[in-house]
Amino acid sequence: MYQPLFEPQEDGLEIPEVGSWAETKYRLVGLYDKLFSTGMKDRWETRVYIDLYAGAGYSRIRGKNRLLAGSPFLALSVPDPFDKYIFCESSSPLLEALKKRVRKHFPKADAKFVLGDCNDKVEEIVVHPSKTRQVVSV
Ligand SMILES: C[S@@+](CC[C@H](N)C(=O)[O-])C[C@H]1O[C@@H](n2cnc3c(N)ncnc32)[C@H](O)[C@@H]1O
Repeated sequence: MYQPLFEPQEDGLEIPEVGSWAETKYRLVGLYDKLFSTGMKDRWETRVYIDLYAGAGYSRIRGKNRLLAGSPFLALSVPDPFDKYIFCESSSPLLEALKKRVRKHFPKADAKFVLGDCNDKVEEIVVHPSKTRQVVSV
């Protein structure tokens, strides 16, 4: 099974709740991230990961005291990392939490954070990965 590179811990920042189905979603998303990033590393000059609904980076399974690493961290944890990461999120507290967590766990990652409705932020998002190919996760 594909795993993030760290176990999320309580850190005083926002942690949205999710249903237990999220474990299956994250397993599949993480597997796809890994297949894509490794599969395309010698084919495309630059690989950019864009998460339009990025969340806070951590989730808590409803009714359980268990934390999961969300889609941004699955993409950051792949064995052949993407060249650039763009995270869009409409909630300011969630994006701030994500930013702090990414800087803590992956301080060297080339990560951009876009606050707002992704439908309104298309131009700001596409300006970052010009001349590149992308994978989008939700
Ligand atoms: C189900 S969460 C997914 C989080 C993350 N992708 C994951 O799987 O761990 C969806 C997130 O998208 C955000 N969101 C919803 N509509 C949005 C929009 N139009 N533009 C940007 N973010 C949005 C919500 O605030 C929420 O944090």
